[in-house]
Amino acid sequence: MTEHLPAIDILSDRDAVASRAAGVIIDGVVSRRVRTLGLATGGTMVQLYARLVAAFRLGEVSFENVTTFNLDDYVGVPSTAPGSFRAFMRRYFIDLVDIDPARAHMPDGMASDIATEAVRYETLIRQTGGIDLQLLGIGSNGHIGFNEPGSDFGSRTREIRLTDETRTANAPFFVQGAEVPHRAVTMGLGTILEANEILLVAMGAHKAEAIAAAISGPISIMCPASALRRHPRVRIICDEAAASQIEGRVASRIRGIS
Ligand code: GLP
Repeated sequence: MTEHLPAIDILSDRDAVASRAAGVIIDGVVSRRVRTLGLATGGTMVQLYARLVAAFRLGEVSFENVTTFNLDDYVGVPSTAPGSFRAFMRRYFIDLVDIDPARAHMPDGMASDIATEAVRYETLIRQTGGIDLQLLGIGSNGHIGFNEPGSDFGSRTREIRLTDETRTANAPFFVQGAEVPHRAVTMGLGTILEANEILLVAMGAHKAEAIAAAISGPISIMCPASALRRHPRVRIICDEAAASQIEGRVASRIRGIS
């Protein structure tokens, strides 16, 4: 199978990363190359959404004609709970721009039957014509969406059990003392790899190991983000701290071009 080296932008700090990543999305939307946008949550995305909202307020971009599909959400967490990804998306993006809320899709972790919900979500993505640009963060264990290590590269939207590492990393989004859910519904790696273009954003030294494994380690289900090397149009935008452990052939190639 062909292996692709993602394009990598290594920038000095978080602000530069958020601005450049937002710029990629804005260019795509303004040029109408991106009509369907895959969205992500997490601390990394807060700054990025702030840039998109600022650009919207300046009249530089409109999301009126954009359809969005979020990667994932917890199972059994109502949208009123602060840790819910629905709440996150409303707080940082959907309620702050001109997107039609009816076109801002998320998998429903409150559905009574998650398997049926997963099929509904996959069907909706397909009927919309697929995702033009998928935005991704990365977990410190290399997860993308909530595809934890061990996820099949061909996996589709489904329910998944979260690792303790992921639950601990996401605890700050929940009210102190509240239990972080054990289960989530996530687009699969196969679903993500069907996007036309992929943009992965990472900030901070705690992501360095995952970024190194994703782009310079073995392509393996033990690092879900390494699946991105099976896709020809992936761009990674990260800060120097997150890029600090990239090794070998890939590191010299990056040094050669930067
Ligand atoms: C969650 C999300 C991922 C995201 C990850 C990293 O686990 N499901 O999509 O990439 O968090 O989040 P952060 O940006 O907070 O480090």
